Amino acid sequence: MTTDTTGTVARDGESRPGGPADSPFIRACRRRPGPHTPVWFMRQAGRSLPEYREIRATVPMLESCRRPDLVTEITLQPVRRHGVDAAILFSDIVVPVAAAGIDLDIVPGTGPVVAEPIRAAADVQRIRQITRDDVSYVDEAVRQLVAELGDTPLIGFAGAPFTLASYLVEGGPSRTHAKTKALMYGDPELWHALCGRLAEVTLAFLRVQIDAGVSAVQLFDSWAGALSEADYRRFVLPHSTAVLSGLVDAGVPRIHFGVGTAELLGAMGEAGADVVGVDWRTPLDVATGRIGPDKAVQGNLDPTVLLAPWSVVEAEVRRILEQGKAAPGHVFNLGHGVLPETDPEVLTRVVALVHELSSRRADQG
Ligand code: CP3
Repeated sequence: MTTDTTGTVARDGESRPGGPADSPFIRACRRRPGPHTPVWFMRQAGRSLPEYREIRATVPMLESCRRPDLVTEITLQPVRRHGVDAAILFSDIVVPVAAAGIDLDIVPGTGPVVAEPIRAAADVQRIRQITRDDVSYVDEAVRQLVAELGDTPLIGFAGAPFTLASYLVEGGPSRTHAKTKALMYGDPELWHALCGRLAEVTLAFLRVQIDAGVSAVQLFDSWAGALSEADYRRFVLPHSTAVLSGLVDAGVPRIHFGVGTAELLGAMGEAGADVVGVDWRTPLDVATGRIGPDKAVQGNLDPTVLLAPWSVVEAEVRRILEQGKAAPGHVFNLGHGVLPETDPEVLTRVVALVHELSSRRADQG
C-alpha cells in the first residue's frame, strides 16, 4: 500500500473513499462491486463533438496533441458533456513514435502517414528510446488533467507493438496489412527487433503517463485481429507481454483492446491485462468464457448502432448489460471508436441509460 503526504492511500486500489481509485470505473477494472456499471467511449473526444471541431478547425492533429492546454480542454469535453465515468487522454498512438524520431503526420480523413516506412534493420535504428523530456507535453497535460478531474479517473494509453508496426511498415493505414505480414513471415529476426524496440518506446511512454498520475492504461492493439492465434502467439504476444508485464508494479489497471479478436481474447488476456476489451462481434458472456474468470471485460456496443433509432440503441444496451453480468467486472464501452457522424446527444443518453439500468441500490443486495 502506498501513502502520499496527505495520508491518503493512492493507486493500489485500496483507495481513499471518493478518489479516482475508488471510482466505479476502477472498481469494475479490479472486479470489485460498485454503485453502477461504469461507461466511457473509445474516441469520446473527437469529431462527434462540435466543441472539438471548433478547436481543431485551426490546429493540426499532432500539434493539438503537443499543446497541454488543448489536450486538457479536449479531454475534458466529453466528461462535461456526457458524464462518462472516465476521461481518456487526448493524444494518438503515433505520438510517441514521432517523439522517437520518426517523421510522420496524421492526415485528416486518412490517419497516420509515415514519410519513410520501416523496411530494413537500419530503419529500426531510427526509432530512438524516448524519455520524459521527449514527451514533456504529455506529462504536463496529465498533471493538469488529474488536478481538474478530481474523482473522475483519467485513462492513459498507447498503441501496442503490432498496430504501431503496421503503420510504420505500411507507411499508412492498410486494409490487409500485407507489407507488415510479409516482413513478419519473411524476416522474423527483423520483425522481432522492430517490435522489441516499439515495446520499449511504448513502455516508456506509458510510464510517463503513470508517473504523472493516470489511474489506468489501455494498450490498443487495434489491428491484431488480422492474425491467427498461432501467429499472434509467436509474433506479437511476447512484445505486448513485455509492455503489460513491465507495468505490473505500477499499481494501475491495464486494459488490452483489439478489433476482430474473437480468436485472440484468451491470448490477449494472457499478455498481462486486468481488463480485456471486446469488439461487437463476440457477446460478452462468450468472451468471458474465453478470457477466464480472473479478468474484467470492456465493451461492446457496435458504434454503428448509435446511428439507429433510439429503441434499437436501448435494446442493445440492455442486452450488453445482461451479457456483461457473466463477467467478474464490466466496463461499458463501444466495440470500437465513436464514429464522427454520431449524434452526441445519443451518447449522453447511453451514459444515463447504462447508469440507470445498472444502478445497484443498497436494498437490492
Ligand atoms: O477519445 C479518445 O479515445 C482519445 C483519443 C484517441 C485518438 N486516437 C485521437 C484521434 C485515441 C485513443 C487514439 C488511438 C488511435 N489512433 C488508434 C487506436 C484506437 C483505434 O481507433 O483503433 C489508432 C489505430 C490510431 C491511428 C489513427 N489516428 C487513425 C486510424 C485516425 C483516424 C483517421 C481519420 O481521420 O478518420 C487517427 C486520427 C485521430 N486520432 C483523430 C482523433 C480524434 C481524428 C483526427 C481529426 O479530428 O481529424
